[in-house]
Amino acid sequence: MDNNSVNRTNIIGAGEVGSAISVDMDKHSIHKMNSNFWDTKGNEILGATSLPLYGAFVSEEKCQLFGDVSGKKLLEIGCGSGQSLQYHGERKASELWGMDISENQIEKTRQHLTACGLTAQLVCSPMEEECGIPKDYFDFVYSIYAIGWTTDLEGTFSRIASYLKKDGVFIFSWSHPIHKCVVAENNTLAFKKNYFDESWYSVSLNEGTLTLSDRKLSTYVNALSKAGFVIEQMIEQSDEEIIQSCGDNNEFAKKAKMLPVTFVFKARKH
Ligand SMILES: C[S@@+](CC[C@H](N)C(=O)[O-])C[C@H]1O[C@@H](n2cnc3c(N)ncnc32)[C@H](O)[C@@H]1O
Repeated sequence: MDNNSVNRTNIIGAGEVGSAISVDMDKHSIHKMNSNFWDTKGNEILGATSLPLYGAFVSEEKCQLFGDVSGKKLLEIGCGSGQSLQYHGERKASELWGMDISENQIEKTRQHLTACGLTAQLVCSPMEEECGIPKDYFDFVYSIYAIGWTTDLEGTFSRIASYLKKDGVFIFSWSHPIHKCVVAENNTLAFKKNYFDESWYSVSLNEGTLTLSDRKLSTYVNALSKAGFVIEQMIEQSDEEIIQSCGDNNEFAKKAKMLPVTFVFKARKH
């Protein structure tokens, strides 16, 4: 899979973590590797990947993209350990659905929601594939730090559009691609990676391996448009209160003051 390996800059969370190795895009080996990672490591090591946080330095409490979800049907793509579903369950959503590639994550979600007195329909599948989720059914489909793992962005967005009712809303967050290119070094920010490079790479994290690619913002915008979505809002501003709560010496907060580290899109199906 990695016959043309090249080491490259790799930023996860607050900073540079080891180096990444370029690999060929092969959907089946990527699914195998990534689901093994989530099966064994879970999402706790990444941090800030569940509502009310959309990712580092962006919060639903400030952005209010969902509004009132009471009585609404919601589906989470890449539901992880179920914390974001819990968030909506506590706000009286009428139906909760979650899907995830990892059986262990699905089981964690099931146990977590049960412990919270909530129930959800849970489906174990890659988001790229047909998996029996109903069509023209949901008021909201959302994804907190999971969309970027897809090996087929356009196909995934078009599937998500098919799950939504007309005028239904799709909200998703991911690492901002500028954050993935810039490293803090000796009190300066150095641009260390080609923003246009969307090739795939593998990274070691906590004795596991993840494979992904860093897409440009325009790739997300154009894929949304191609799937029939109209973008209503995009968030890339770091939250000043979260920055301040980190204290003066937090390097990640200093970076988030200068550039976006997380982005969120809110788009509507036409
Ligand atoms: C950072 S976690 C999401 C956490 C979640 N928002 C929460 O509230 O717990 C990312 C999730 O995406 C899932 N994932 C990765 N690749 C996927 C794919 N191709 N299809 C579906 N889920 C995938 C992982 O198994 C993982 O549970």
